[in-house]
Amino acid sequence: MASSPLLLCVIFCSYCLVALGGRHERGFVLVPTSSSSASEPACSSVSQVTSDPNRASVPLAHRQGPCAPASVASSGKPSLAERLRRDRARRSHILSKASGRTVTLSGASVSIPTSLGAAVDSLEYVVTLGFGTPAVQQTVLIDTGSDLSWVQCKPCDSTACYPQKDPLFDPTASSTYAPVPCDSNACKALADGGYNDGCTNRTDSSLCQYGIEYGNADTTVGVYSTETLTLKPGVAIRNFSFGCGLRQQGTFDKFDGLLGLGGAPESLVSQTAGTYGGAFSYCLPPGNTTTGFLALGAPSNNTADFLFTPLHSSPEGPTFYVVTMTGISVGGKKLDIPPAVFSRGMIIDSGTVITGLPETAYSALRTAFRSAMSAYPLLPPKEDLDTCYNFTGFSNVTVPTVSLTFDGDVTIDLDAPSGILLDDCLAFVGAGSDDTGIIGNVNQRTFEVLYDSGRGHVGFRPGAC
Ligand SMILES: *[C@@H]1O[C@H](CO)[C@@H](O)[C@H](O)[C@H]1NC(C)=O
Ligand SMILES: *[C@@H]1O[C@H](CO)[C@@H](O)[C@H](O)[C@H]1NC(C)=O
Ligand SMILES: *[C@@H]1O[C@H](CO)[C@@H](O)[C@H](O)[C@H]1NC(C)=O
Ligand SMILES: *[C@@H]1O[C@H](CO)[C@@H](O)[C@H](O)[C@H]1NC(C)=O
Ligand SMILES: *[C@@H]1O[C@H](CO)[C@@H](O)[C@H](O)[C@H]1NC(C)=O
Ligand SMILES: *[C@@H]1O[C@H](CO)[C@@H](O)[C@H](O)[C@H]1NC(C)=O
Repeated sequence: MASSPLLLCVIFCSYCLVALGGRHERGFVLVPTSSSSASEPACSSVSQVTSDPNRASVPLAHRQGPCAPASVASSGKPSLAERLRRDRARRSHILSKASGRTVTLSGASVSIPTSLGAAVDSLEYVVTLGFGTPAVQQTVLIDTGSDLSWVQCKPCDSTACYPQKDPLFDPTASSTYAPVPCDSNACKALADGGYNDGCTNRTDSSLCQYGIEYGNADTTVGVYSTETLTLKPGVAIRNFSFGCGLRQQGTFDKFDGLLGLGGAPESLVSQTAGTYGGAFSYCLPPGNTTTGFLALGAPSNNTADFLFTPLHSSPEGPTFYVVTMTGISVGGKKLDIPPAVFSRGMIIDSGTVITGLPETAYSALRTAFRSAMSAYPLLPPKEDLDTCYNFTGFSNVTVPTVSLTFDGDVTIDLDAPSGILLDDCLAFVGAGSDDTGIIGNVNQRTFEVLYDSGRGHVGFRPGAC
């Protein structure tokens, strides 16, 4: 089975929100409030993609929900305000037209990219994969906003590695581990990718060093390496290139590393393109007690349920996935937004939580949404979320449908309320100008989102989890 591409199922859980199961009524959805469903959270129902010889899937969980591996879920949960601050840092980092691709990491011998990666600690979903031979389980964040994957490696003391609950990966205990040599094409390509050529100024010139700085100055530096990556028993990727992290600095949570799903050559998606065609998908469930999936490969059949819009490359580089939004509707009524407002495109991202819209579009959305929600008292802003409600005392809430229209005349109705509200706030912000926007993961809930670089499109399948 090892050589045949198989199914990789992902369990996925997300936090939040009011409640499940709404009732549609002419552009509005009636939902019970959270107080009416106050049961102890537990992980239930594992969704997965149907068995397909062209795909592989792995379990995926929200890192703070009950479906997350205990080692990660038991770490302290950051406050909403803290999550929103991290999320804003991630959005501005991704969108920044920062001058210069590299900066010098103080105290380190490498210079590192500022235009790649993202704020690691704002990412929200984890998968557990097997590293090495014999395979050791490692729980890593999934990130469509960066490419190079890494885990913390031995030898690494408490000042060089942050605390993680799982044992550190020990390359010396794996029969398939190998460092990438300095003089290899792979190491030279790493330098071209903006990770710096760690071979140019090191005393130990036999090892290829990588360095990454994420949006909030979190950094990882280590040895570029190859290893066998086991997605699930019987489904292994040999010679997977990743970073063996020997020095991490910043505010990382307790996960063991990161899985890069961007479009550049270093990502898992690009490295497995020969097998899976450069396609992958995931489904983010509406709450943190149910599960979704992450899958490599596009479905061979059954794409009829998907709504497709063209995938564009990003001026920020090959990492990001860009789609063109053309309109927004609230309560079934299309908002009056000039199409030019969306001309810079929208990056679609798994790790950004809150959608950042061009300012003109956000302003129109906010006005229409507030008008439709005028029965409920507004609360002061929570960080940059400025449309928050006090639902105390309401046994149910009527939320207008919010629909996004994309190039190709494809319209998706966001799940109500899980895809519209985060902590009783409208899960959108204005980007400050009519520049590139970002579609965050709240809006993506319950859709299977298929990123298919090979066919040049992004697909949305509603009600997938
Ligand atoms: C799961 O979601 C519920 C409802 O939003 C929330 O009260 C709870 O704190 C969440 N659990 C975790 C572990 O985040
Ligand atoms: C795809 O469709 C064909 C014909 O209907 C069927 O034989 C095959 O089993 C399907 N494959 C999958 C993976 O569902
Ligand atoms: C493994 O990958 C490295 C780096 O990409 C490459 O130099 C090497 O030739 C590969 N080895 C095999 C056996 O494919
Ligand atoms: C190499 O590294 C040393 C010490 O970190 C530094 O002083 C020197 O300027 C570097 N040389 C080059 C060519 O970057
Ligand atoms: C929300 O409304 C309830 C009932 O009207 C009120 O008691 C409470 O103080 C309000 N909460 C906030 C944060 O304004
Ligand atoms: C929704 O709430 C309103 C006011 O709290 C109440 O009058 C109405 O009966 C509720 N509707 C349902 C279907 O629960």
